[in-house]
Amino acid sequence: MSNDKIKLELNSDETVEFPVYQPTYGYPVIDVRSLGTGHGYYTFDPGFLATAACESKVTYINGAEGVLLYGGYPIEPLAEKAHYVEIIHLLIHGELPNQQQFQQLSKTLAEQADVPTQLHTVLKAFPHDGHPMAMLMALVTTYQSYYGAVDLKNADERYAAMIDLIAKIPTLAAMCYRHFSQQDFIAPDSSLDYAANFLYMMFGKKPSAELSLAMNRLFVLHADHEQNASTSTVRMVGSTGVNPFAAIAAGIAALWGPAHGGANEACLNMLRKIGSVDRIPEFIAKAKDKNDPFKLMGFGHRVYKNRDPRATFMKISCDDVLKATGNEDSPLLKVAVALEKAALADQYFVDRKLFPNVDFYSGITQTALGIPEKMFTVVFALARTTGWLAQWNELLSDPSYKIYRPRQLYKGPKERDYVPLAERKN
Ligand code: SDX
Repeated sequence: MSNDKIKLELNSDETVEFPVYQPTYGYPVIDVRSLGTGHGYYTFDPGFLATAACESKVTYINGAEGVLLYGGYPIEPLAEKAHYVEIIHLLIHGELPNQQQFQQLSKTLAEQADVPTQLHTVLKAFPHDGHPMAMLMALVTTYQSYYGAVDLKNADERYAAMIDLIAKIPTLAAMCYRHFSQQDFIAPDSSLDYAANFLYMMFGKKPSAELSLAMNRLFVLHADHEQNASTSTVRMVGSTGVNPFAAIAAGIAALWGPAHGGANEACLNMLRKIGSVDRIPEFIAKAKDKNDPFKLMGFGHRVYKNRDPRATFMKISCDDVLKATGNEDSPLLKVAVALEKAALADQYFVDRKLFPNVDFYSGITQTALGIPEKMFTVVFALARTTGWLAQWNELLSDPSYKIYRPRQLYKGPKERDYVPLAERKN
């Protein structure tokens, strides 16, 4: 840590100094931990707009420049050329795998992809039209009972649990789709690679190389993204010392929200509702109307105030999939492209630096792959499980980590006496 300091004048006769830590990239951070115990103040930052909740080496986003790095590697060449299994190794170990490590990890993931058949009965409790995100949460927490305890202080045990869940999450995700679509479950085929196996378990036929590549790219683009809401949830829940399966189930719950990973499903529904290019002005006006809760789904981002590099690549992959599936004339794509153009030419969006994010084109891509919109966020959760676990492991690797326990600005009533019910007049 650097020995920089910053001074804060608390009042006319008290100035305090706080350590400042310099990052590899990004803003320096002020360590305010002594502010409460030592000086009787808290910082106030609802929504964590200016709070660094942890130190991390896993992923970095430069929102102003539209840059995303996994372990120092820009997302573009990774999405273009890397196999998702390479990304699993990179996010967990901090380095890309060599050939032998890649082969070994791929083999382990294929060998551990199958799940206890008893988990099939968990899904039987769900109505077929239940939301697959609820199903995935139930499957992950139930699977914990079959996996058993994890000694969180043991790095090898943490790693074994992480790889086992990463191996099984495509199978669990596909099971949600098979139940949702009232079809029999399909067991994994260990001869297929990670993305191809997922599509096989979804649709019952071995996918073409183009569609497997598109799925692989979608997994790579969604693998991790710093301390977003669901990753922060996984870290917070993980900080209580609970098993990793419960922490991941909490992450799935957080991702489900339409302001977060649920935006891909909401975005496709929005594009369907807009329906045609000539209705775009009506929806742009709604998005700008402060009295209307409607927002353009798939637009805007807390960190990116420039293009989300994942959206740019997602569009390239979307075009490839539409071509490979004979959907080049997709009406949804026409609406999406026209909507993006109209929004980016509108001062409201320009002033607020609102650009398409990763969710804007992922729905159209998944639709072309035959994946129904209720499954979009399940696919997001599948891919993000690696990032969640890498971040969870990073937290637990530091023996000095503390349970997440924010404070508050209390504005409730002053202390008052209890009046027994019988004596209360009003
Ligand atoms: C993901 O954090 C991550 O990294 C998340 C993620 C990941 O990989 O983990 O990238 C995945 O969640 C992507 C985001 C998906 N969500 C959406 O597409 C939903 C639509 N977007 C918005 O809900 C919103 O942009 C957020 C939630 C994404 C970001 O919200 P912020 O940072 O809290 O910004 P804000 O709501 O304060 O907006 C600032 C202004 C406001 O207007 P003013 O009050 O200044 O007049 O921009 C407006 C907002 O009303 N605004 C929008 C808008 N998003 C923001 N107006 C219309 N449409 C939108 N989509």
